[in-house]
Amino acid sequence: MKANGEKFAVITAYDFTFSKLIETAAIEVVLVGDSLGNVVQGRDSTLPVTIDDMAYHTEAVKRGNNRALLMTDMPFMSYATEVQALDNAAILMQAGAQMVKLEGGAWLADTVYLLSQRGIPVCGHVGLTPQSVHKLGGYKVQGKEDQAAELMIADALALEDAGAELIVVECVPSALGKQLAEALTIPVIGIGAGPDTDAQVLVLHDMLGISQRLPRFSKNFLEEQTCIQDAITAYGAAVRDGTFPAPEHCFK
Ligand code: KIV
Repeated sequence: MKANGEKFAVITAYDFTFSKLIETAAIEVVLVGDSLGNVVQGRDSTLPVTIDDMAYHTEAVKRGNNRALLMTDMPFMSYATEVQALDNAAILMQAGAQMVKLEGGAWLADTVYLLSQRGIPVCGHVGLTPQSVHKLGGYKVQGKEDQAAELMIADALALEDAGAELIVVECVPSALGKQLAEALTIPVIGIGAGPDTDAQVLVLHDMLGISQRLPRFSKNFLEEQTCIQDAITAYGAAVRDGTFPAPEHCFK
């Protein structure tokens, strides 16, 4: 789709019922995000989420999905070493994931290479990486300074070179989202990264307006629709025709 200049939509899911709705709405990629720590478990970060939690929710989502690419987050500290990464990625793949997602930059290149060489497709995640919230000093826009932006592009290229097949970029200025999409051959999926990435991802509960706080970069798609199914379909259409994200969802 990137090669053809077509945008695609990604959405999180954590259970069978929503997975079925997402499948019916023809969303291209479903992410079992560790954001389940926030929106399902009611925690104040993703750090307490375990590999067993991720496997449990992946199995449920898998049962409802026969169409979208199913990607699952590797949770905090489940890929701190290469051995841990391999063992834990295997658990998620056996639970039904078709790709795993890891948060971090060039330091993960060897891990990404190891996983992809062993038949495990990998998605990177740069920018605001919620598992590092305490290191980052909060949930803040990343890559605002030139040096930080250059480092992020170098990180993303290192992940691509190591074998990553997708990259999520979270909460960065729109100009950097565009630079990343242009610099990489693989698709760049943005969340709060402006309109020029190859795809967009939103947390399900945010785009239905049922999370505790709607992030600035998200949009409540249920507001203009009469049912959840139509809201998810409208999200997919808005990503594909480029009407989401609008300027009010972007950072400078
Ligand atoms: O956990 C999650 O839902 C994510 C998305 C915000 C990209 O990683």
